[in-house]
Amino acid sequence: MKVLILYASIEGQALKVTRFLQKAVRRAGHTTKAVDVNVKRAEAPLDWADCLIIVASVHRRRHPVEFEKFLTVNRDALHRKKTLLLSLSLCAAFPQGQEEAQSYVAELSERTGFTPTADQLVAGALQFKKYKDYEAQVVRFVALNLNEYDEVHEDKEFTDWPAVEAGVLAFLER
Ligand SMILES: Cc1cc2nc3c(=O)[nH]c(=O)nc-3n(C[C@H](O)[C@H](O)[C@H](O)COP(=O)(O)O)c2cc1C
Repeated sequence: MKVLILYASIEGQALKVTRFLQKAVRRAGHTTKAVDVNVKRAEAPLDWADCLIIVASVHRRRHPVEFEKFLTVNRDALHRKKTLLLSLSLCAAFPQGQEEAQSYVAELSERTGFTPTADQLVAGALQFKKYKDYEAQVVRFVALNLNEYDEVHEDKEFTDWPAVEAGVLAFLER
């Protein structure tokens, strides 16, 4: 199968997930291409793909605006394909954050008119070394306080790699 991975990343974790998935998808015997929607959206070969994996992170309770615009403009073409949306957020890392993390996906569908065939919530990463002061404040108050997480200075990767791979391969086999 030809699997197109579209991604939108701000600090790099969604890109890391994309690179990881490219390898996993190839190992499973499929052909894959990856396109950064923030940079090269005009070059996304939607017609080439049998199915799409769409990977994007959440900042301030929404996925990147340019990424949402891409989904809005291309939603008819996307609806003709099998699509899996991987939504990366910190809330997805916590049991009590699941409802909030799922609401980001619901709001994305409301804003863009695009509803993926399936979606998967993926735990992102804390990257304080990359944050400006106000970004660190947003992360603490929006994502961490809500989930009663106290280690608010240390970088930490919450992404569950085996779960990401298992979810994507199960989707491709469906
Ligand atoms: C400024 C900022 C705002 C964020 N807002 C949210 C949020 O509203 N909800 C959430 O669950 N995670 C939030 N996060 C966490 C990101 O979704 C997480 O760090 C993710 O791994 C980022 O992926 P990226 O590196 O591909 O951009 C935020 C992170 C930053 C830096």
